[in-house]
Amino acid sequence: MNAETGRAPRAHVTGWGRYVPDHILTNADLETMVDTNDEWIVTRTGIRERRVAAAHETTASMAAVAGLRAIRTAGIDPEDIDLILLATLTPDYWMPSTAALVKEAIGNQKAAAMDVAAACSGFVYAFATAQAYVTSGLAKHVLVIGAELLTRFLDYTDRGTCILFGDGAGAVVVSASDEPGGSLGIEMTTEPQGAYMIWLPAGGAKAPPSSETIRRGEHYIRMEGRETYRFATKTMATTALESVSRAGLTPDDIALFIPHQANIRIIEAVAKGLDLPMDRMMVNVDKYGNTSAASVPIALAEAANSGRIAVGDAICMVAFGAGFTSGAATIRWTVDPARGIAGDAAVDPSTVHVRLPVDWDAVDPIPAALAEMMARPGPVNPPLDDVVPDEPARPATEVQA
Ligand code: ACO
Repeated sequence: MNAETGRAPRAHVTGWGRYVPDHILTNADLETMVDTNDEWIVTRTGIRERRVAAAHETTASMAAVAGLRAIRTAGIDPEDIDLILLATLTPDYWMPSTAALVKEAIGNQKAAAMDVAAACSGFVYAFATAQAYVTSGLAKHVLVIGAELLTRFLDYTDRGTCILFGDGAGAVVVSASDEPGGSLGIEMTTEPQGAYMIWLPAGGAKAPPSSETIRRGEHYIRMEGRETYRFATKTMATTALESVSRAGLTPDDIALFIPHQANIRIIEAVAKGLDLPMDRMMVNVDKYGNTSAASVPIALAEAANSGRIAVGDAICMVAFGAGFTSGAATIRWTVDPARGIAGDAAVDPSTVHVRLPVDWDAVDPIPAALAEMMARPGPVNPPLDDVVPDEPARPATEVQA
């Protein structure tokens, strides 16, 4: 509460950043692994390629880079963060939380840190939690991250799932301010009748990992694609609409929607449901596939950095996912979008480290089906923003076979 005005602070997005791994898995690569083809994948999903984390990378390491970039964009110090919320369905470990590892990696001493589990809606759920902390006065700066390493949880013999998902991380800093704008309206839903439409059967208390669960492939993501598609097309537009009307706005007032990047046809259905043209929808599913909780913050950061967001714009982030869950947050953008490119450039991923356990040799985390692709020599490290003018070029590096 502001002592002078007697009003609660508002929750503004003051920083944003993202990180995606260098390795690219194309539809042509998948054609060599499973019975699929580029034409089917592009027309049914809109996906052309996705990123795959290297052996040394984890959900925490990607999250830490994206988080530090968001902190740099916000122009604050890591130590200014009071709370770290990390949305993921692919944590590094069951315990500790991945957020705790990120706290150490970004060099923060004081923040509380926890993971948020709401699958692909996780980032919006975490954002809503951050808003509650900030507007209640419990936190001044909250780091909200969505990060996923999905390529290690896919069955590369199941063409219905392995073509969809990719790895990456995105983050925002949510800060308290008395200025107008910031978060305006939030809507979240959970429909447990869809609980087994997207799930990962083994590894939890109901089915602890064993040689039998592994033999059955129960450690991989399973999905009823058509049911999930039906839920997404039914729910996303209504969830977005509720959030927008809570903000006192109409869809036409929204300069840009940042929808979860699961499938271009789902995004088209959202546009149709809101009676808006596709140029009001941010789309980058072609480059990254579905990165679950990371998809909305990666898309948000790319929208800001590519000049699609201006100060004063109303933006609506909307997602759906396993649970079934859905969430939407409408915000008024108040920070110079140009800050993001410098924020990204300020953090070199090779300088960010997540501490490993002592005397513990982890097994090679790369799935056998991807090992040959990951070992392939060739230029990697393409610029994140090939669409963005004036971003400093990153040098191409050679991966040794
Ligand atoms: N390549 C070629 N053919 C394929 C592939 C593939 N990769 N996958 C399925 N097919 C075939 C099917 O076998 C089927 O063939 P048939 O007619 O001979 O039986 C045909 O293509 C059509 O299959 P459908 O499942 O009906 O295809 P659909 O158009 O529904 O597209 C898809 C499938 C892309 C999975 C779609 O249903 C979808 O996007 N669903 C939503 C998935 C999603 O967004 N999940 C993420 C949830 S978020 C989270 O929390 C993780």
